[in-house]
Amino acid sequence: MLSSPALSIFVTLEGIEGTGKSTQATRLAKRLRAEGYDCLLTREPGGTAIGREIRQVILSPKNHRMCAETELGLYFSDRAQHLREVVWPALEARRIVVSDRFTDSTLAYQGHGRGLPLRLVRSLDRIMTGEFRPTVTLLLDLTVQEGLLRARRRNRESAAHGREGRFEEEELAFHQRVRKGYAQLAKKDPDRYVTVSATGTIKEVTEALWLALKRTGKLPRAK
Ligand code: TMP
Repeated sequence: MLSSPALSIFVTLEGIEGTGKSTQATRLAKRLRAEGYDCLLTREPGGTAIGREIRQVILSPKNHRMCAETELGLYFSDRAQHLREVVWPALEARRIVVSDRFTDSTLAYQGHGRGLPLRLVRSLDRIMTGEFRPTVTLLLDLTVQEGLLRARRRNRESAAHGREGRFEEEELAFHQRVRKGYAQLAKKDPDRYVTVSATGTIKEVTEALWLALKRTGKLPRAK
């Protein structure tokens, strides 16, 4: 296990469905590169070849009978592989890693959303990741109603997203618990978390994320 060296930082983007996280992760990575940083953009689940297979199993609407414990195990299996194959080597190479989701997603979705005991999530976290934490977590916040409206619109327009709709099919109350869970996690860890509103235009939100990241003072000098 590794703790992020000073010259490389691990930035994660979190949020409920429809906050535009993936678009923003891509744009933030682009911005970092434009500012002279060597940045690696990755995601969970699915940041490795094994992870992409795991992603299909977890998100396929066909697998609606999957129990919460199986889901939990699969997310951590994806993460264990992702850390060892992608994230840790990139941090060792002094790159900035931007990941679209990480362990906070599991705490929010499987813990707060599904109602699995948080101590169970934390024990797996200890075993699979050594409680590895991002340097900065940018939480994109939006109401559940607006988020689901955007996510469902996107799924209708994109065949790939349509095949991954298991979570969007969950009831409103599930997503409300996830959003509340994120708010609690952010409150408990104010040194790592920055909450950014996802209500603006794509460009405005990218700018807000970039400024928030700069203001943390954790960004090293560009090469
Ligand atoms: P994505 O659509 O942001 O790529 O994420 C896929 C889905 O997986 C999304 O609905 C959130 C969910 N998820 C969890 O429930 N737990 C996790 O640990 C992760 C990483 C994602």
